[in-house]
Amino acid sequence: MKRRTFLKYTTAVITGFVLYLWYKMLQMRQMTLTAKKLLLPYDRTKKVAFQGDYIVVNKNGNKPVVFSSHCTHLGCVINKKEGDVLVCPCHGSRFDLNGNPVKGPAYKPLQKVPFETDKNSGNLTVKTT
Ligand code: FES
Repeated sequence: MKRRTFLKYTTAVITGFVLYLWYKMLQMRQMTLTAKKLLLPYDRTKKVAFQGDYIVVNKNGNKPVVFSSHCTHLGCVINKKEGDVLVCPCHGSRFDLNGNPVKGPAYKPLQKVPFETDKNSGNLTVKTT
């Protein structure tokens, strides 16, 4: 292969790769911009509030913590509390109010969800995709 031909092919491959990376970056930016915010009403008097895909835990009036309500075993929605334990209705996994498993089959902690607190209303906002 001649040097000139080699340079043409190499330039074409590098240009294609750069364009591919650019396209992927634009896709990621678009996904970030289209992320929706979901408002979670926050009742400070409730220790645990089940709100669809989220569980809001407020231990001892401290700063609330938001968990995904999807069990880390097979993804069932946790919607039950017994004492200070969150119970998965599917296979009986139990989690403490820090999201840590106390009884299997789930062995991973519940996923914490980042949120923002509205200063005026006190409600919580989580980002969804
Ligand atoms: S899905 Fe929760 S224990 Fe199996």
